[in-house]
Amino acid sequence: MSMVSQELINEIRSSVDIVDIVSSYIPLIQKGKNYFGVCPFHDDNNPSMSVSKEKQIFTCFSCGASGNVFKFIMDYENISFMETLKKCADTSGIPLSVNIKSNQDTFLKNKELYDIYDIASKFYQNNINTANGRLAKEYLYNRKIDDSVIKEFGIGLALKNRDLLTKLLLNKKYTQKDLIKSGLVVENNYGLNDIYYDRIMFPIEDLTGKIVGFSGRVYNGETNYKYINTKETDIFKKGEFLYNYSKAKASARQKGYVIVMEGFMDVIRAYTIGIDNVIATMGTAVTKNQAMTIKKMAKEIILCFDGDEAGAKATSACADELVKIGVTPKIVRLEDGMDPDDYIKKFGKDKFLSKIDNPISIMDFKLSYLKNGKDISDSEDLASYVNSAIKELEKIDDEVLREISFKKISLESNLDIDFLKERLTSNKKEEETKTQTKPFIKKDKYEKAQENLIYYMLQSKEVIKLYNKKITYMPNDKYRFLAREISLYYKENQKFNLADFMTAISNQTEIYNTLSYILSLNLNEFYSDVEIDDYINVIREYNVNYQVNRLKDKMKKTSDPLEQAKIAEEIKKLKIDING
Ligand code: CTP
Ligand code: MN
Repeated sequence: MSMVSQELINEIRSSVDIVDIVSSYIPLIQKGKNYFGVCPFHDDNNPSMSVSKEKQIFTCFSCGASGNVFKFIMDYENISFMETLKKCADTSGIPLSVNIKSNQDTFLKNKELYDIYDIASKFYQNNINTANGRLAKEYLYNRKIDDSVIKEFGIGLALKNRDLLTKLLLNKKYTQKDLIKSGLVVENNYGLNDIYYDRIMFPIEDLTGKIVGFSGRVYNGETNYKYINTKETDIFKKGEFLYNYSKAKASARQKGYVIVMEGFMDVIRAYTIGIDNVIATMGTAVTKNQAMTIKKMAKEIILCFDGDEAGAKATSACADELVKIGVTPKIVRLEDGMDPDDYIKKFGKDKFLSKIDNPISIMDFKLSYLKNGKDISDSEDLASYVNSAIKELEKIDDEVLREISFKKISLESNLDIDFLKERLTSNKKEEETKTQTKPFIKKDKYEKAQENLIYYMLQSKEVIKLYNKKITYMPNDKYRFLAREISLYYKENQKFNLADFMTAISNQTEIYNTLSYILSLNLNEFYSDVEIDDYINVIREYNVNYQVNRLKDKMKKTSDPLEQAKIAEEIKKLKIDING
């Protein structure tokens, strides 16, 4: 896995405290020995994740995610193991020199694509600085984007000729297949051609900061396609990325909030006035995937979409997506249909910052959004407004915000607050009867015995010893593989530390998933010897039955009475074994 020794990895792991680290990302509340928080790895909206100071692991009882401090940081920040290791080592002042170039599978598998985007990006950036880039530069200068910003965001230019990039890449020995796969080259009647020509190019990075595609903007003359994005490839999924994510990440965490905008130019403009904790969804459609990433960026989220109707709709949809996953964003609306780029250019830094410093609550936004185009002095409009406002309130978990909003709606509509509350509860009841309960899958006793035995092997080396002594075979593959790893790890190290064991098996996805599943069972912390004996006996019983059945089959197949007697004897012995 790495050039760093297992000892050093474990030393780094135990040099940091998982409770400190996790609470630097999400708020944790102590309950007894453990700490609880809202799980960042699924659409959680109440604290389902527990962090154990004693065991130095986290477990989500709802989605089953679990791991040690490394796993938490890797998954939260979308960074590689080596980067995580380096981060922790730095925190503790442990010297560690590693090459943190990511070496993930997807990177190696798609190395040609990443290289092509890298070459293309350098090529485009060079173009804009040549004489042929003059018009494009003027266009950007006119939009108040200067050379330093052009450089900072890697903005480039695809020239007028339609084969420059194609030729460059072919010269560098990339295959025709790779070129087409990259989405930067197309094959048509004239042979191979660049997709982008005569456009200003914005590189788009994935969550780790690698360029995975482009968006090209027209800059001279009109066309219907203002922006053209690279087609989706194995590594370019627009709905999974956020523009400026890797640059904004650190600052958003440090400042405690992130600003979400729609477009490239909005983010770039914000950057020119010193706002760097800002990302763009690259349009008005916000996916659940993007919402999950935004949720992880900072504790507070401010939506600042375009001031037009489409922006209001996007604000509402994005807010819903975030509320579903347990985050209540704050909202900034810009007047006169302006987008942040327009607004900042027109009113300047201070006025924009004061908008950001005074966001409105999600309910205030929703109420004014719902009133839009309605005349609430008209009874029908008023009724429809009140009904939809109550529907919005159902989504909100914050009780104070709910109470305040009830007051507001009551004032506006002249309806009794208790009546409004009554409406909300009756709607909720209706919802609940509609959603059916999940079918309960009953586990057989053998499965349960294996799960529980492994659960306690993870808690105590005494149980591992018992397993080694008494169990030769776990009936289910997945439990057998995991139990074997635990047993091996214990034999090799003469001790068992769960958090370090997690590092050791982190590359074996299936075994790791089984481990996560077993931890999420959340069994009683204490166990009795009798209980463990029970599990062991149940598993042995399974094995004996299995052998007995095999012997019985064998007996049916033979007609030799002597052979039959021998088998009968064997069966009897097995049965005594299990009962005695
Ligand atoms: N967008 C896109 N593809 C399109 C149109 C829009 O990816 N065909 C994304 C871009 O990220 C764009 C954002 O949606 O920045 C918002 O679109 P729009 O408001 O139309 O563009 P602006 O950001 O205002 O662009 P500009 O200021 O350059 O006109
Ligand atoms: Mn815009």
